[in-house]
Amino acid sequence: MSALTVTDLTVDYRQRGGSRFRAVDALSFALEPGQTLALVGESGSGKSTVVRTLSRFVKPSAGEILLRGVDAADGVERGLPRGRRAKRKAYHKTMQLVFQDPFASLNPMHTVAHHLRRPLLLHGGHRRGPKLEAAVLDLLRSVNLTPAEDVARKHPHELSGGQRQRVAIARALATDPKVLLADEPVSMLDVSIRLEILNLLDRLKQDRDLALLYVTHDLATARHFSSQIMVMYRGEVVERGPSDQVILHPAHPYTRMLAAAAPDPTVSRAALAEARAQRAALRDTRAAEHRESVLDQGCRFRSRCPFAMPVCATRPPDLPAVKGSVPGAGAGGAGHAARCWLLDESAAAAPAADSAD
Ligand SMILES: Nc1ncnc2c1ncn2[C@@H]1O[C@H](COP(=O)(O)OP(=O)(O)O)[C@@H](O)[C@H]1O
Ligand SMILES: [Mg+2]
Repeated sequence: MSALTVTDLTVDYRQRGGSRFRAVDALSFALEPGQTLALVGESGSGKSTVVRTLSRFVKPSAGEILLRGVDAADGVERGLPRGRRAKRKAYHKTMQLVFQDPFASLNPMHTVAHHLRRPLLLHGGHRRGPKLEAAVLDLLRSVNLTPAEDVARKHPHELSGGQRQRVAIARALATDPKVLLADEPVSMLDVSIRLEILNLLDRLKQDRDLALLYVTHDLATARHFSSQIMVMYRGEVVERGPSDQVILHPAHPYTRMLAAAAPDPTVSRAALAEARAQRAALRDTRAAEHRESVLDQGCRFRSRCPFAMPVCATRPPDLPAVKGSVPGAGAGGAGHAARCWLLDESAAAAPAADSAD
């Protein structure tokens, strides 16, 4: 059983004036125990909305979320007492979060120990006493915060950003979760310690068989730490697949643009030069986006796309398998696929349809 299965998740935000804005559109994926799936996209693409919806802070407009096979909308695990609070509690025990800002996520009034005792008391079946204190110290050691006795007594302001993020990770682990959502967990940290924190998350994932959703705008770390990558653009997955496939052989122009913005040392010089040329072309076409008044028809990326064809303006592309990729390969059964008319040879030749059928 997948740790988390998401099917056609759609999130509409209500805007001033009553109109609605679709921040996430029919997103589907599965997260497996012991696997990292990266959700990649530039700012505003809907990544945090996905995280907020999965963690039940935002209600989905449509779609289904199954946490270990249990529907998030009314999930009651067998044997648990009924009632909304119990359901919610069980859900939050199983799924935990690590946020972007380690400064905002800890309460400056409380010690590190206090932050870790709370989830242990609430979810871990602990009672106050020496065993609880020992569990606090174990958690600190598991995230390499030593000497644990000293760290436990400290307040957040006495810690560095990296140390705070370790405390936040320890707190997430306190409930012994099966799924961990990490929303840009290192983007506010000093560059020099980002890899340490990502390595820590990677080790914890392996040791605890966690299913990890790694949200980032950084393709290089997405590739290094994830077996699968989903690339999101304006609420839609535009490309997905095994990490190496997606990064080394990106099929969607948007993924190529992202790859060009974050050069990977293993990518050839020729590929980089090509990517640079594409980036320049994208800059030119970006201005067109502002002139475009109707964007809800056809491909959402077309105004920034150097390869846009007539069909791109009239019909939204599907997410077909990329030619030559193995369907269903990799964790989660997701093969390499991209939402682009370029993958459809007949589309390039066909005249633009004037009706969206
Ligand atoms: N509470 C909200 N109400 C209305 N729009 C929102 C709200 N939260 C986010 N948005 C919009 O939804 C889109 C996606 O935002 P977000 O999920 O934060 O993206 P990301 O995390 O990829 O930067 C953005 O255009 C953002 O302005
Ligand atoms: Mg975000």
